[in-house]
Amino acid sequence: MRMRKKRHLEPRMEACSDILLARGKPCKNLKEAAENYRFLLDYRAVFGNDNPVELEIGCGNGGFLLEKARREPNTNFLAVELCTNVILTAMERTKAAGLGNVRFLNIPAEILECYIPPRSVGVIYLNFSTPLPEKSREKQRLTSMRFLKIYDLLLKNGGRIEQKTDSREFFEYSLARYEEAGFSLTEITHDLHNSPYAEENIVTEYEANFSAKGLPIYRAVAVKGADIIQKSK
Ligand SMILES: C[S@@+](CC[C@H](N)C(=O)[O-])C[C@H]1O[C@@H](n2cnc3c(N)ncnc32)[C@H](O)[C@@H]1O
Repeated sequence: MRMRKKRHLEPRMEACSDILLARGKPCKNLKEAAENYRFLLDYRAVFGNDNPVELEIGCGNGGFLLEKARREPNTNFLAVELCTNVILTAMERTKAAGLGNVRFLNIPAEILECYIPPRSVGVIYLNFSTPLPEKSREKQRLTSMRFLKIYDLLLKNGGRIEQKTDSREFFEYSLARYEEAGFSLTEITHDLHNSPYAEENIVTEYEANFSAKGLPIYRAVAVKGADIIQKSK
């Protein structure tokens, strides 16, 4: 079902323009945009410091990132979200919380390389990305090889992807793609809320829903350039 446009969407987006770094796409074709357009961010100009940068893709209403930014004031966070209706909520919450270390990009992740300088990101968070089980939509999954190539470009050496999902099928698919792409797997759990990683975990909006239904949460970390592979707990 199509989400109804939020009331006064445009003036509200405008009111958040100080924390919105990009919106839309530079041209219709995503492949062409990714290859030909560069508006690389100057982090010092954006955040006013040289703190490390982390990125969440598909931030939804922003619950995860807001808490993360509160806990880690000396890290800068970029939030990417395709849906304008949804990112608006995340931006309004960020402004209300007075957080200075979060900025937003209302763009498809397919064109991240237009904005994010190569090898500049320490961590990429993929929280409950849409599993898209249909074979025909494989390329759109945020852990397909197409996206892992983009993440590989953006991540520093030793940087990592932290993924959580409720879908076992999508989880197994993602683990296979990480290994295929040369990432090392660590901190794998098939029941995050009953694992050693539960204490530090920030529960996202989708996670709260799935968990309330009694579903287990899967989590893994894929490290770029690390050489230790830890098997499933
Ligand atoms: C299932 S929601 C999860 C939201 C949030 N991370 C959470 O855990 O509560 C997935 C989000 O990813 C966004 N998304 C999906 N594909 C995307 C893409 N290619 N680029 C940017 N955002 C995307 C969707 O619009 C949606 O808001």
